[in-house]
Amino acid sequence: MKYAPLFEPYKLSEQLTLKNRIVMAPMNRSMADEEFLPTAAMMNYYAGRADTGLIISESLMISQNAQGYPNTPAIYLAEHVAGWRKITDKVHENDGKIFAQLWHTGRVSHPIYLAGQQPWAPSAVPLEGRVPRTDNLQYGIPKEMTEQEIKLIITEFANAAANAKEAGFDGVEIHAANGYLLDQFLHWDTNRRTDAWGGSEENMSRILFEVIDAVKQNITHVGVRLSPVAYLNLKHDERDILVSNYLLQRLNDCNLSYVHTGMFEDTYQAHLQGSVTQYIKSLYHGTIIACGGYNAESGSIAINQGDANLVAIGRPLIANPDYVEKIRTKKPLTVYDAEMLNQLI
Ligand SMILES: Cc1cc2nc3c(=O)[nH]c(=O)nc-3n(C[C@H](O)[C@H](O)[C@H](O)COP(=O)(O)O)c2cc1C
Repeated sequence: MKYAPLFEPYKLSEQLTLKNRIVMAPMNRSMADEEFLPTAAMMNYYAGRADTGLIISESLMISQNAQGYPNTPAIYLAEHVAGWRKITDKVHENDGKIFAQLWHTGRVSHPIYLAGQQPWAPSAVPLEGRVPRTDNLQYGIPKEMTEQEIKLIITEFANAAANAKEAGFDGVEIHAANGYLLDQFLHWDTNRRTDAWGGSEENMSRILFEVIDAVKQNITHVGVRLSPVAYLNLKHDERDILVSNYLLQRLNDCNLSYVHTGMFEDTYQAHLQGSVTQYIKSLYHGTIIACGGYNAESGSIAINQGDANLVAIGRPLIANPDYVEKIRTKKPLTVYDAEMLNQLI
């Protein structure tokens, strides 16, 4: 069968085997309630996709200070833990597995989300552009974080991981992609620090390694999402590749569950030879999740030729709650349309 590679089970660790290679990509739907709690509709949305080998939740705020969009769900209060417990229970009842994606937006935010305070970032480098879902508000200049604030963020990631465990998640994914806070440290455009947290590959990666260490104290299965080519919310700098070369090699020693490509289009080749996943694979030797524009055919090929072990599917899973069954039985897929974002099905 053409798509057979997608339906092979995959052993993520001694304790955790995924029933197939199709991963639900993290997709924030901005549909939490005003307390950032997940709703009943979100429970049905996730529970209905438990036939994927692994669900990665939408990005969850690790603190109030992490917010950058309206109604994004959170995992920093006991109430959030209780809310997510209902969802993880349902996913498990349906024989699924689910990781929580842990997230801080950094400078991709605005004082309207932060009780009037400036967003935090590695350096005071403004983000240009309009804040989505607002009446023409512009992003601004973030506040350069102090050393103490960096330490606080590391602790908040660790606390969020402990909460995710308590909420019944099977693991966590650290969101270090797409131009959000951790990614801002990994790129020269946004990290202009001259202290221990900037100025060299080692220093720029320091926060990510400290977050990984701290998170691992609280939960066993930890993945990391990266978008090394800096394509979203960031300007590219030729030196960025040296940072990702350094960091991907060091990630080999971190005993991670996986590294996950954080792209909308994996074949985007502005600064690399092959796909972003192929670049990651050339330096990182553990489990890899490919993502960005894949379908069942290209996903099967990526697995077959050894570029990735798992393939994350995003938009097609919004359009097709029954994606796995449709692929298995070769039924036609409903085509994704951005209009579908207005509703959870
Ligand atoms: C509505 C929407 C929300 C997203 N939210 C997140 C998110 O919370 N965290 C994240 O890492 N990526 C997020 N992404 C990116 C996806 O995880 C994925 O990389 C992207 O959709 C490309 O995969 P696809 O071509 O299969 O859709 C989002 C994408 C979409 C369309």
